[in-house]
Amino acid sequence: MDRVLLGESGLSVSPVCFGTWQLSPRFWGEQSKDDAVSAMKLAYDQGINFIDTADAYGDGYGESVVGEAIKDLPRDELVIVTKVFNHFNPDGSRYPDLTPDHVAERCEASLGRLGLDTIDLYLLHLYDQLTPLADIAGTLERLRDQGKVRAIGVSNHSVEQLRAQRRCGAYSVIQPPYSLIDPVGESGLLPYCQSENVGVMVYSPLHKGLLTGKYTGTETFDDFRGYHADFQGERFKELCDKVQSLRPIADRYELTICQLAIVATLMHPAIHVAICGIKTPEQIAEAAGAVGRTISREDYFAVRNLVGPAGPKLADAKGEQK
Ligand SMILES: NC(=O)c1ccc[n+]([C@@H]2O[C@H](COP(=O)([O-])OP(=O)(O)OC[C@H]3O[C@@H](n4cnc5c(N)ncnc54)[C@H](OP(=O)(O)O)[C@@H]3O)[C@@H](O)[C@H]2O)c1
Repeated sequence: MDRVLLGESGLSVSPVCFGTWQLSPRFWGEQSKDDAVSAMKLAYDQGINFIDTADAYGDGYGESVVGEAIKDLPRDELVIVTKVFNHFNPDGSRYPDLTPDHVAERCEASLGRLGLDTIDLYLLHLYDQLTPLADIAGTLERLRDQGKVRAIGVSNHSVEQLRAQRRCGAYSVIQPPYSLIDPVGESGLLPYCQSENVGVMVYSPLHKGLLTGKYTGTETFDDFRGYHADFQGERFKELCDKVQSLRPIADRYELTICQLAIVATLMHPAIHVAICGIKTPEQIAEAAGAVGRTISREDYFAVRNLVGPAGPKLADAKGEQK
């Protein structure tokens, strides 16, 4: 399985990362823990060494399931990411809290749930505007000195927020949203990351399942997609039709639509890793099948034009405007 260097983090990872947000019942409803554990073990067998979780996924539950899945796998071959941001109240409510004592406490709790001595990559889940940036960076530096985290990064930051953080600390990775349907960050965040060699691991590359091609536009959802605009009415149907129009290109490369979406996402030179949200062994096997594949420049732009946002189209392979 291919490996990529994640910016200047020193981490060598598979271009597909196993995403575990699906273990958050508040968003995704109840998932089978057995399926999740089997899927993580299969991921390792298929060469996926990168797992993304957060203390917020099921308020610690996601991390515990990761801990269970990896306990018998070779530690040195795995790269585990988790995130910190929230203060969790006993009644289930949360608020942002990246103050030094709280981060140190949350890091200890994450290590315990994951069954690890070191978190390979520790991310600030969001931007906390109340805590001075130097305090956050100082805390993370101490955790690194203590060997509790190896590399640090951020998620859900604008390019200006990332720039500001990097003036205070050694943040080498960002985890932003990105999909071919909504390719955010291409005019600001991604060029900045490319020029500064910041590792980029994008989340929701399958647009929360839409880019797998398995929906027709008539489905209803009893998870958070039941109130997500892209999964409602005419917009849902229109997006599903656009995704189906990818099939002839996918067929030509003997890829599934899901794999084609991952391949095209990873062709962006700023993007190192696509984190796919996985519920079952079948889903990770399909995603793993995209690694190492590529499509032509002409087909890349065709894919972008078929499912991308409306408006001026990207230049095609001949440099003309469509
Ligand atoms: N940093 C952050 O704030 C943040 C935010 C969101 C996500 N993330 C991370 O990124 C990961 C991925 O993002 P995401 O979960 O939003 O979206 P995603 O990867 O775009 O979509 C996940 C959904 O795609 C479907 N799927 C995945 N593989 C499939 C396959 N091979 N065949 C058919 N369906 C497949 C599943 O849908 P069904 O449910 O229909 O089976 C799954 O729930 C998360 O798990 C999490 O680790 C981070």
